Amino acid sequence: MGRKTVGMAKQDRVLIFDTTLRDGEQAPGASMNQREKLEVALALERLGVDIIEAGFPVISKGDFESVRMVAQKVRSAVVAGLARAVKKDIDAAAEALKPAQRPRIHVFLATSKIHLEHKLKKTPDEIVQMAVDAVTYARRKTDDVEFSPEDASRSDKTFLYRVLEAVIKAGARTVNIPDTVGYAMPEPYGKLIADIRANVPNINKAVISVHCHNDLGLAVANSLAAVKNGARQVECTINGIGERAGNAAMEELVMALRTRGDYFGAVTTINTPEICRVSRLVSKYTGFAVAPNKAIVGGNAFRHESGIHQDGVLKEPTTYEIMRPEDVGFIGVGLVMGKHSGRAGLKSRLKQLGIELAQEELGRAFERFKDLCDKKKEVFDEDLVAIAQDEVQEVKDVWALESLVVTSGTHIKPDVAVRLRSAGKVHEKKATGDGPVDACYVAIDELTGCRGKLLHYAIQSVTQGQDAMGEVRVCVSFNGQKVIGIGASTDVIEASVKAYLNAVNKACAAAMAKKQKSPGIDFGLQL
Ligand code: KIV
Ligand code: ZN
Repeated sequence: MGRKTVGMAKQDRVLIFDTTLRDGEQAPGASMNQREKLEVALALERLGVDIIEAGFPVISKGDFESVRMVAQKVRSAVVAGLARAVKKDIDAAAEALKPAQRPRIHVFLATSKIHLEHKLKKTPDEIVQMAVDAVTYARRKTDDVEFSPEDASRSDKTFLYRVLEAVIKAGARTVNIPDTVGYAMPEPYGKLIADIRANVPNINKAVISVHCHNDLGLAVANSLAAVKNGARQVECTINGIGERAGNAAMEELVMALRTRGDYFGAVTTINTPEICRVSRLVSKYTGFAVAPNKAIVGGNAFRHESGIHQDGVLKEPTTYEIMRPEDVGFIGVGLVMGKHSGRAGLKSRLKQLGIELAQEELGRAFERFKDLCDKKKEVFDEDLVAIAQDEVQEVKDVWALESLVVTSGTHIKPDVAVRLRSAGKVHEKKATGDGPVDACYVAIDELTGCRGKLLHYAIQSVTQGQDAMGEVRVCVSFNGQKVIGIGASTDVIEASVKAYLNAVNKACAAAMAKKQKSPGIDFGLQL
């Protein structure tokens, strides 16, 4: 049927519960700082999500503060905080959510035999009592309480019905059915939702939610099967990030519901043209690149390589496109700018791509763009995004790359000379290492006094072709504090250095902010 949604008499609303900041952030290696979390939360609100799960307040002081900050700033969406079924957790969630306009406490407790016997060491009766007590206690703090029987998809159905009936009676307004370990298959999972509707007597007093993990690559399929069977809230994350193989990807769920409204008869209120922008933001802050073939938000999602397809799309887009690129905010098509384009042209193109730069940042981005036009035959939207992201000053740069000389080869030890500028002065260091990138990082550590431990390094080309820019993402630990750095250049060693320096500058900014708060403390970064 393609782009239009047809043939529906009545469409039900499916609520979008985003857990990028909680389950998404549990993805190994994905840690965002408070400012980044707040920015993502505000972007999610603009995207139109119904509920933002901002974190798990009892877990750490940082998580507590992040939830509180999001609760303070987000006005239209519900803000949820996660809690185990114990008072301490519920108290922490309630406290962090105090400033929220629309707070929700999300309580979870496992119900599967495996979890009861091996993890919780509780009897079924004890679990029912704990769940009821927790929901009752949470309802004293707020009207909006969600209950999740963890590992629901592997739980005994009759026991699950019993728990759900009891928590709804105790005041849970949403009951979530997690496929915690990504074990479910679409048909039986859909049937589980139908069976819950048929067997839990008071189920019409609560919204049925689903929360699917992607261990077998079925998180989105399972969530959609649940919607088909009456689930009216889906829990998901941007780009599908999350614990292990991740959670159901929001962009895929939303666009499936929209594109196949004829099949589902259900709608969301997501402002879909914002999708790619939020996807880029989450990718940038988590350091997780989006695969080119990723549905909806991947760089190739709307590209047609085959001549037959190109011909078809030119004649009539619906021949090979079931969604319009602009419906998800995907603008990156074709050659957009060249060396004759001016600063105003760059500014306006970046604005179309959802990026607004400050005057100084735009100046630097424009210089880089002109340089790139000399080095590359064609400059694409992706190049502009990479340059702009590189030049956005999230923090004031303490250290900037002045120049770089690298000698490397098959049978010689790499040798580098790195020059950095800081506070108007240029400092130089020569170093060797296991490879040219390692040698540069050794030199930077020496120059800055920051001892970074490289946890993760990834490089990908921003566009295709031999002259493409390389984008490097690093995750570096400074005294146990994980920081993500990103850098782009047509020279991959330079991109690697920029990414590392980006991480160093963020670590310096964090250390300085802490030092201002508590001047006596030495955070081990010699600035
Ligand atoms: O996967 C899961 O079961 C969860 C619950 C806390 C909802 O994340
Ligand atoms: Zn989960």
